[in-house]
Amino acid sequence: MWRVNLSVNSWLVIYFWFCVLVFCIPSDVSSESLLFPKNCSLSDCVECNKGSFSNISSEGCSCCDSPGFCLPTFCTSCPAGTFQPAARQTRCETCSPGNFSVEGSSECERCPMGSFANATGSLTCTPCEEGTFCNKTGSTGCNVCKKCHPGTYSNSTNTTNCASCELGTYQNTSGATECLACNAGEYCNKTMCTECSTCPAGYYTENTKSCKMCSAGTHNPIPGNKKCSTCGPGFEARTLGQASCTGCSEGYYKGDNTTALCTPCQPGSHGSVKNSTNCESCRPGSYQDKTSQKECQLCPQGLTCNMTSCKQCSPCPAGEQAKGTGNVNCTVCAIGYFKESIGTELCKVCRSGWYNKQYKSTSCKECPRRYFCPCPQCDPQPCPPRDICPAGSSRAKTCDAPWYIAQRDDCVMSEEFIALIAGCSAVVIIALIAGSVSLYYSRRSRQYQGIPTEDSAPLVRTRSGPIYSGL
Ligand SMILES: *[C@@H]1O[C@H](CO)[C@@H](O)[C@H](O)[C@H]1NC(C)=O
Ligand SMILES: *[C@@H]1O[C@H](CO)[C@@H](O)[C@H](O)[C@H]1NC(C)=O
Ligand SMILES: *[C@@H]1O[C@H](CO)[C@@H](O)[C@H](O)[C@H]1NC(C)=O
Ligand SMILES: *[C@@H]1O[C@H](CO)[C@@H](O)[C@H](O)[C@H]1NC(C)=O
Ligand SMILES: *[C@@H]1O[C@H](CO)[C@@H](O)[C@H](O)[C@H]1NC(C)=O
Ligand SMILES: *[C@@H]1O[C@H](CO)[C@@H](O)[C@H](O)[C@H]1NC(C)=O
Ligand SMILES: *[C@@H]1O[C@H](CO)[C@@H](O)[C@H](O)[C@H]1NC(C)=O
Ligand SMILES: *[C@@H]1O[C@H](CO)[C@@H](O)[C@H](O)[C@H]1NC(C)=O
Ligand SMILES: *[C@@H]1O[C@H](CO)[C@@H](O)[C@H](O)[C@H]1NC(C)=O
Ligand SMILES: *[C@@H]1O[C@H](CO)[C@@H](O)[C@H](O)[C@H]1NC(C)=O
Ligand SMILES: *[C@@H]1O[C@H](CO)[C@@H](O)[C@H](O)[C@H]1NC(C)=O
Ligand SMILES: *[C@@H]1O[C@H](CO)[C@@H](O)[C@H](O)[C@H]1NC(C)=O
Repeated sequence: MWRVNLSVNSWLVIYFWFCVLVFCIPSDVSSESLLFPKNCSLSDCVECNKGSFSNISSEGCSCCDSPGFCLPTFCTSCPAGTFQPAARQTRCETCSPGNFSVEGSSECERCPMGSFANATGSLTCTPCEEGTFCNKTGSTGCNVCKKCHPGTYSNSTNTTNCASCELGTYQNTSGATECLACNAGEYCNKTMCTECSTCPAGYYTENTKSCKMCSAGTHNPIPGNKKCSTCGPGFEARTLGQASCTGCSEGYYKGDNTTALCTPCQPGSHGSVKNSTNCESCRPGSYQDKTSQKECQLCPQGLTCNMTSCKQCSPCPAGEQAKGTGNVNCTVCAIGYFKESIGTELCKVCRSGWYNKQYKSTSCKECPRRYFCPCPQCDPQPCPPRDICPAGSSRAKTCDAPWYIAQRDDCVMSEEFIALIAGCSAVVIIALIAGSVSLYYSRRSRQYQGIPTEDSAPLVRTRSGPIYSGL
C-alpha cells in the first residue's frame, strides 16, 4: 500500500482529465483516441450569445481554441460603447452618436434627457453643462443641448429644463447659470424677465418686484426713483400716481409738508392766488362767511367791521350809521339827524318842526311852543311877538295885521277890524234906510200925479245889531 498525499489542485487536474476521457472521447473510444482526442466538429461548438462575440476561429469551429479541444466559454462580451444584437457574431457594432452602451449590450440606449453623446462608441452620456439643457433623449452634442433662453437659467448639470428668472431678477443673455437682480429703482413684475424696466414717473419701487403708485399727497417726477416725495408748501397731489404736484387752487392753501392736501381757507380769510402757503385775512371793512373763497366781501351799507378776519359785519348802534359799503367804523348821526335803534338803516333827518343839537342822536325834540325851528339842526328861535308858534313849528306864523292879531296859538280878528266892519255895516244900513225913505216919498208924489208905481215893498229889512260878514 502506498500513501498518496495530493493537494486539492492535483485532484482537480485529475478530475479534468477524467472528464476529458469520459465526455470528449466517444464511446467507441480506442486507446489511440484517448491519447489523441478527436477534432471538434461544428456541432460541438457553443454559440456566442447576443452581446458577445468570438473572433478566434479554429478548424470547423469558431469557438474552439486549439485542435481537439472545445472550450464553451470562449465568447467575449461586447465592450461598453459597442453592442451586438445577434448571436454567433465575430464582432460588435459601435454605438452611434446619441447612444451609449454598457459592456455586453445587445443594443445601445439613447442618452436620457439632460445629457448627450457626441461621439460614436460612447460608454456614457455627458450631462448638459450649467446654462444648457436637453429636453429630449438621444442628443448627439453640445449644439443639441440648447442654451437656456434669455430670462431663464440653469445652475446645475443634467438639466432637462431651465428655470425662470424670479420676480425682481432678469437675464439678458442665453446660456446663463444665474439671474441678475434688477438695479434699485428698476423692476421686473413677472418671471422670465430679459430686462428690468424703470418705474415711470408717479410710481416707485421698493423691492424691484413691482411698481407702486405714489400715494395721495406725494409725487415722483423722476422715473426710477426709489421713493415718492411729499409735495412742498403750496402744492398737493390729489390722486394716486402723480408725477408732479399741482398748486393749491385759489381759496386753498398748504403751509407745510405735513398735510397731504391743500386746506380750504376758513371764514374770515381768503386765498386770492394759486400755490398759496397761507390764506390772507379779510381786511377791516370786509368779511367772508364761507370757506375756500377767493375774495372777501365788502361790508354792505349799514354794517361795519373794525378788525381783520371778520366772518360777519356788525350793524351800527343807535345814533350811528354806516353809509356806503366797506365801512370800518360807524359814523355818528350828524346834528339834526337821528337813528332810533341798532340796525342797518341810515340816520334820518328830524322832521319839520323837530330838531336836535347833538351828534349821535337817537331821537329829535319837538320845537317848543312860542318857538319855531327853521331847520333840523337849528336852535329854536323865539317866536316874534305878533306871530304864533305852536309846538312843532318850523316857522313863525304871522297874523295879517292889522285885521288879525295873534292870540295864544291862533290868529284872531283884531278889535279894530271888528269895529271897522261894524262901522261899515252901520253906514250901509243908514244909507239904505235913507235911500228907501227918499224912494218912498218920491213914489207917493208920483201916485198923486197918477204915475204908476212899482213894488211898494221895502228893499231892505233893517236890523238892530251889526252884521258880521264872514271871514
Ligand atoms: C485532427 O486534425 C489534424 C489536423 O487537422 C489531423 O492531422 C488529424 O488526423 C485529425 N485527427 C483525426 C482523428 O481526424
Ligand atoms: C479579436 O478581437 C480582439 C479584441 O477585440 C482583437 O484584439 C484581435 O486582434 C482580434 N483577432 C482577430 C484575428 O481578428
Ligand atoms: C442610436 O441613435 C440614433 C439617433 O439617436 C437612433 O436612431 C438609433 O436607433 C440608436 N441606435 C440604437 C441601437 O439605439
Ligand atoms: C464632445 O463633448 C465633449 C464634452 O463636452 C467635448 O470636450 C468634445 O470636444 C466634444 N467632441 C466633439 C467632436 O464635439
Ligand atoms: C424642448 O425645448 C424646446 C425649446 O425650448 C421646446 O420648443 C420644446 O417644446 C421642448 N420639448 C419638450 C418635449 O419639452
Ligand atoms: C440653484 O438655484 C436655486 C434656485 O435659485 C438655488 O436654490 C440653488 O442653491 C442653486 N444652486 C447652486 C449650486 O447655485
Ligand atoms: C441625469 O438625470 C437623469 C434623469 O433625470 C438621471 O437618471 C441621471 O442619473 C442623471 N445623470 C447625472 C450624471 O446626474
Ligand atoms: C407689471 O407692470 C406693468 C407696468 O406697470 C403693468 O401694466 C402690468 O399689469 C404689471 N403686471 C403684473 C403681473 O403686475
Ligand atoms: C418739503 O418738501 C419740499 C419739496 O418736496 C422739500 O424740498 C423740503 O425739504 C420738504 N421739507 C420737509 C420739512 O420735509
Ligand atoms: C403756480 O405754480 C405753477 C407750477 O409751478 C406755475 O406754473 C404757476 O405760475 C404758479 N402760479 C402762481 C400764481 O404762482
Ligand atoms: C369794534 O367793533 C365792536 C363791535 O362792532 C366794538 O365792540 C369794539 O369796541 C370796536 N373796537 C374798536 C377798536 O373800535
Ligand atoms: C376806526 O376807529 C378806530 C378807533 O376808534 C380808529 O383808530 C381808526 O382810525 C378808525 N378807522 C377809520 C378807517 O376811520
